[in-house]
Amino acid sequence: MKIITDFFWKNYYLSLFFHRNYEKILSIQAELDQNPEKRDELIPEYNRIMRDICVDGVFKTTSQHRLVKTDEIIVDFLRSMKKRECAILDVGASDGTTTLDLHERIKAALPGHNVAITMIDRNVHMARFEGRVVNEYRDSSGKPLMVQLGRLGFRYPRSEYRFDILHNLLMKVYSEFREKLEFRKSEEYMLINPLVSRTETIQVIEQDLFKVDQLGKKFDVIRACNVLNDVYFSKEQIQTAERLFCSIMNDGGLYVKTRNAMHKKLLEGTILEEELTQVFRKANGELQKVE
Ligand SMILES: C[S@@+](CC[C@H](N)C(=O)[O-])C[C@H]1O[C@@H](n2cnc3c(N)ncnc32)[C@H](O)[C@@H]1O
Repeated sequence: MKIITDFFWKNYYLSLFFHRNYEKILSIQAELDQNPEKRDELIPEYNRIMRDICVDGVFKTTSQHRLVKTDEIIVDFLRSMKKRECAILDVGASDGTTTLDLHERIKAALPGHNVAITMIDRNVHMARFEGRVVNEYRDSSGKPLMVQLGRLGFRYPRSEYRFDILHNLLMKVYSEFREKLEFRKSEEYMLINPLVSRTETIQVIEQDLFKVDQLGKKFDVIRACNVLNDVYFSKEQIQTAERLFCSIMNDGGLYVKTRNAMHKKLLEGTILEEELTQVFRKANGELQKVE
């Protein structure tokens, strides 16, 4: 029996129907803010909630120490640069947990460097709206992400899971009549790791990666991890984004694109991550592949 429940639970087919207690975001954030020394215990708990949040088909999944190779490539590049001041852009950074890892890795390896990191993500806010029967969690643009009915939670507008026929049908019916319901905003969530918010050299901006040119800045390093890949975007969209990145990079700058490939062992429910990186340098006005 345990093997069966583990199989369903760890592969999410059942967990889909349980409300994930998003309210815990606030208590974990407050605790992390007050007791940063408990980070190794609290950040994974916080990341578990992030892993459940899906906005426009992209999960906010992130976790500590998943970009070790990427961080190392960036540190080596910074070490080789003549100047000691540099600007980094982290694209699709989720709650900034991995941005913080990068910041700390640079601080430890290159104490004399003055590095400013800008992290952007399309969604760094979420709000809870209470209704008489159901509650809704909505993203920054006001679109519902999840509908909560007591202990049950239904991702909206569509689940990303394979066996989601029943779920999609329920949400379709719900979307027909939700306009008639009344809601009251009860809570605002900032989907940012509080240790990031208190790090002065990391600037958080809610920004679409297809509009990075609006940042009005140039960068020496850009990285896009677990976002700019064919799971989420078409080849043309990826090319458009990378042309934009190139336009806001300084000559000789570094662009790293990483994907953590998940190898799932279905029955055991374990997930192994493999960090796959692609490295480019800006030369003659274009991005040239290095590795
Ligand atoms: C899977 S997470 C990756 C987080 C982090 N980079 C990592 O590797 O752990 C992908 C993030 O990209 C963000 N995202 C998706 N589309 C985006 C867009 N068009 N512009 C900016 N961010 C986007 C999502 O909101 C999500 O937080």
